[in-house]
Amino acid sequence: MIITIDGPAGVGKGTLSKNLATHLGFHYLDTGTLYRATAFICLKDNCDLQNTQQTAKAAISLLERYDFKPTEAGFCTFIDGENVQRSLRADEVGSAASVVAAQTEVRQALKAFQQQFAQEKGADKGVIMDGRDTGTAICPDADVKFFLEADPKIRAERRVKELQDMGKSANFDEIYQAMVERDARDANRKTDPLIPAKDAHILDTSMLCVEEVLQKALSVITSESGK
Ligand code: C5P
Repeated sequence: MIITIDGPAGVGKGTLSKNLATHLGFHYLDTGTLYRATAFICLKDNCDLQNTQQTAKAAISLLERYDFKPTEAGFCTFIDGENVQRSLRADEVGSAASVVAAQTEVRQALKAFQQQFAQEKGADKGVIMDGRDTGTAICPDADVKFFLEADPKIRAERRVKELQDMGKSANFDEIYQAMVERDARDANRKTDPLIPAKDAHILDTSMLCVEEVLQKALSVITSESGK
């Protein structure tokens, strides 16, 4: 079984995906990590983010330099043997990710890996695919598709709280502005833009707590698949 969860930054895709994966005993792929890791490699190797030859090369090299390692705390991400799990979450890397993710060559380089992961894990226990285009371009035949939405101001507030909880300083206006710019880049790019699949269930998480989002998603999955 393949379940896709798409939507903009800070909408709660990661939280819902992890909760569903735990609840259903499914595998999980956060596809944004692949774009973040590509951007991380570009920044590390001093690539020009606008040079698609260099960025596509980074995306191709990622599949050799990148490793998922299961730990008790979840999945760790290694690049060239270095644990970069925390570095990949930086907002600077997220913004750079949305620049390289707008390039067709980069998307092509990462597509087969995601599709193979979905097919293999979907045929095993089941898989949750989390991203921007998993229901449209990566797994158009997924069994259940969700598209999450939320008011951008609420999404920015959530990000501020997340950073503050990590003991970091956070400026609402800067975060809101960066989020709006990233959403616009993701929604307006030519290749595989951020749009709901025609058969996606739209869930607005603005006024819902984590548990309510999980329960709504589970009830859709039950009614669609009997799971
Ligand atoms: O979800 P996350 O914030 O980690 O994604 C970082 C960036 O990667 C997004 O802003 C988007 O540009 C890109 N992305 C994408 N397609 C996906 C997942 C992420 O274009 N399936």
